[in-house]
Amino acid sequence: MYNSAIQEKISCLDLKGQHQQIKDEIFEAFEKVYENTAFSGGTFVEEFENNFAAFCQTKYAVGVNNGTSALHLAMLALGIGKGDEVIVPANTFIATAWGVSYTGATPVFVDCTSDTWQLDASKIEEKITSNTKAIVGVHLYGQPFDVDSVKAICKKHNLYMLEDAAQAHGATYRNKPVGGFGEMACFSFYPGKNLGACGEAGGIVTNNPTYQEHLFSLRNHGTKVRYYHDELGFNMRMGGLEAASLDIKLKYLPEWNNRRRSIAQRYQQEIKNVDIQLQTQPQWSDSVYHLFVVTTQNRDRFIKYLNENGIFPGLHYPVPCHLQKAYSNLGYREGDCPEAEYLAAHCVSLPMYAELTDKEVDYVISMVNAYKNG
Ligand SMILES: Cc1ncc(COP(=O)(O)O)c(C=O)c1O
Repeated sequence: MYNSAIQEKISCLDLKGQHQQIKDEIFEAFEKVYENTAFSGGTFVEEFENNFAAFCQTKYAVGVNNGTSALHLAMLALGIGKGDEVIVPANTFIATAWGVSYTGATPVFVDCTSDTWQLDASKIEEKITSNTKAIVGVHLYGQPFDVDSVKAICKKHNLYMLEDAAQAHGATYRNKPVGGFGEMACFSFYPGKNLGACGEAGGIVTNNPTYQEHLFSLRNHGTKVRYYHDELGFNMRMGGLEAASLDIKLKYLPEWNNRRRSIAQRYQQEIKNVDIQLQTQPQWSDSVYHLFVVTTQNRDRFIKYLNENGIFPGLHYPVPCHLQKAYSNLGYREGDCPEAEYLAAHCVSLPMYAELTDKEVDYVISMVNAYKNG
């Protein structure tokens, strides 16, 4: 059944190869955290914050416990709350919208374009009301969104712009790393991300010292001076073990991102099948290909075919945010965001991670090319 060159199944993502490569270094770093008993916050978190801010070419980074908390705290730092509306893409992971909802504000979903599958800037203005406070752009699948167009709308309507860069560590927009374009940018360091901790973690980068200071307080019980609580705060600190593992992995990230780029380039150049559509890559965007999403008319048939041939793709994401049950109270209907709905019904994520071998990439390409919709 499988090509003889391929011994094992090929999944959308496999973390084992990466962690085998760097196991000794990571364990050494863990030992240092252990010796210092710096398990929550502390020097290892500070070191990673400094290195990650430098990587993003921003002044500050604030480590937190996951990417969802990063979005939540960024919203609070902007002063967003009950009665406010925030524009969010319909085509994203749901956590982009959670960050808004946790503050009591309402996410307002906007469709994606039919080719880049990113937030469609031309559909934003019709959704802006007197309650709109911010727009969250998402660098989805690792591909930067149309930053200049979104920024221009923010400027015109006096709105904040936030970047959800959870999937895009190291991606560049017009040759500048994502993270420094809006008020703040939120990252996830979930283990499966391009930069993923050995554990759960997230972070916010910003060039604004007022936000940094406020985020430090919010993540630590609303505290600037120990046991004095100035506002309602949270326990959303980053752990020392997570930070230490991230600092090791950050050194390898450019190399890993480049390997993803070269796999993506092969997919783009060598997948030639009228039944499979690829995402358009605008010339101003340099994606880090967290995911390699394609669409096809009969998705179930394509997935069954791939599975029978030892390839196990992913689905990102099968239900667009505006049609999620959790948001049924907002009154969205099918047809409200047709491009995001099409994508949700037809998307498939091909295997994408730096440790895929050339033989595995050859095999995926040949299997995809041999597929027929029937
Ligand atoms: C686009 C996007 N936003 C936010 C998040 C939330 O990050 P986390 O899972 O670390 O809470 C994720 C990751 O799952 C994501 O992909």
